[in-house]
Amino acid sequence: MKLKVFILAISIAISVAGRVHPVFIKDVVQPLYPFLEVDPITARSLLDNDFESGTEDPWYDSSPSTVHWIVEDFSTPTESYPAPAPLSGTKYLRAIRDANRTPGQLILRTIKFTAFPGDELSFDFWIRSRYTGGNALELVLSVDSVEKSLINLSGYSTSVNLEWRRSTVVILEDAPPTDVTLIFYGYCGANVDDAIGLDNIVLASLPTSSTPISFDGKDK
Ligand SMILES: *[C@@H]1O[C@H](CO)[C@@H](O)[C@H](O)[C@H]1NC(C)=O
Repeated sequence: MKLKVFILAISIAISVAGRVHPVFIKDVVQPLYPFLEVDPITARSLLDNDFESGTEDPWYDSSPSTVHWIVEDFSTPTESYPAPAPLSGTKYLRAIRDANRTPGQLILRTIKFTAFPGDELSFDFWIRSRYTGGNALELVLSVDSVEKSLINLSGYSTSVNLEWRRSTVVILEDAPPTDVTLIFYGYCGANVDDAIGLDNIVLASLPTSSTPISFDGKDK
């Protein structure tokens, strides 16, 4: 009983605080990522991340091998091949390999959140590879585990792509509010100059004529 009350208090604290560091409730809730417990409506308001806080939440790395998404600071690069200066701030999410630069697949997911019709996701990306098409980056929408590709950015994977670019994608068009998950799938190769970065992720809702909605006032 006491535990339930505590968990309720924590849920309220999360709703109020917006973002919470996992360590905060690690003794109460078992999952590695406590923010996975946030309800989908609260989750949507937490999705924006410019990574300046140093955390990925509520995006999380579920890459299956030795390549991982790490929040990196422009001034202290982890990989020997530096990223272009971020468009704003100093931190971004970057694909980091082990000491042998073992290539591998990358997966970055959101927690489940409620998408509204007209929702758009914008983000900055940088993808570079020694050989054209050597690396891959794709954004996918998952509804009840059925996946749909929203945009494939692998075509930017060339040796001359030395800049951050902004991409904006409609994630839900004419559908009622739907609980969804967004997933970035990537692949990073083994060359020194193979690299992928993400930054400044923003979920924006455009009012649609057919389905007027209002939620947290963000759209006004
Ligand atoms: C993404 O685009 C690249 C070419 O730019 C293509 O080779 C690849 O098959 C595409 N990936 C998917 C999943 O469609």
